[in-house]
Amino acid sequence: MAGTAHRNTGVEGVEGGVGRTALLVAAARAIETHRHDSLAQDIYAEHFVLAAPASAGWPVRVQQVADGDANPLWGRFARYFGLRTRVLDDFLLRSVRAGGARQVVLLGAGLDTRAFRLDWPSGCVIFEIDREGVLAFKHKVLGGLSAAPKAARVPIPRDLRADWAGALTDSGFDPAAPSVWLAEGLLFYLPSAAETCLIDTIDRLSTARSALAYEVKLEKDLRAYRDSPLYTSTKHQIGIDLLDLFVGEPRPDSAADLADKGWSTSVHTPFDFTRRLGRGPLPEDNDALAGNRWVFANKPR
Ligand SMILES: C[S@@+](CC[C@H](N)C(=O)[O-])C[C@H]1O[C@@H](n2cnc3c(N)ncnc32)[C@H](O)[C@@H]1O
Repeated sequence: MAGTAHRNTGVEGVEGGVGRTALLVAAARAIETHRHDSLAQDIYAEHFVLAAPASAGWPVRVQQVADGDANPLWGRFARYFGLRTRVLDDFLLRSVRAGGARQVVLLGAGLDTRAFRLDWPSGCVIFEIDREGVLAFKHKVLGGLSAAPKAARVPIPRDLRADWAGALTDSGFDPAAPSVWLAEGLLFYLPSAAETCLIDTIDRLSTARSALAYEVKLEKDLRAYRDSPLYTSTKHQIGIDLLDLFVGEPRPDSAADLADKGWSTSVHTPFDFTRRLGRGPLPEDNDALAGNRWVFANKPR
């Protein structure tokens, strides 16, 4: 496979390419759900893992892993995804409750089941954008479970490297009303130009009192830690080469860009939240998580 474009589009669903990372996060959420000190609950996650041939043999409980929490992938990395899920659950609920927004846009939604899991205020609409094959798989699994969303849910099959704003507004998104946006585990799979365009689009479609959270990796991190146990175990245990899927171009400074556009921003490491919540991964040597940053932004009144 040569070239980032091919890497990202080669397989449309969850069976390969970047789509399979959605299954990885689902497996991590399944494991997190069944921990005695769980940070987040997702009762749907294990159903995705078991339904896809690519992941049917993966663990959905840490007890199914021979070395349990000592396993870099299903122990520490899975816990990272559990922490991220919890922190971003809290962000979304806080934003809609305090800020009054009733439109939530999940960019690269993957197998995120927040529309089904969280207690949304009445009148909320959750827009989920991902590639068609991923959303079709999600629809099939959730349909088989007769899962009922707790808010209006609008899946929008689109490639986020192309124009997606028209599809969002055509689906009922109102740029004149406040909105909450999330890009969780997405931006490092997009070319830099697509990230810049995505941030511009969010800004253009966001009125005052809108909020945004997203995850990035510091640019140096995309070159460093290449033999971090998190990357090597993910590659060797389940055949997902994250370093190959990341787009290793110079990255834009989207937090600075948003600040220039008038948003107030705060940037955190995941470890900040581990300390705050009392559980989750802490720094290690040669750590693939060292460069991860979670950015929170608000567009003032
Ligand atoms: C690591 S998963 C994260 C999924 C979800 N946000 C979560 O945290 O569970 C990355 C997701 O980004 C989606 N994605 C990557 N590149 C994309 C693109 N160009 N257009 C739309 N979705 C994309 C993948 O299909 C996948 O579902």
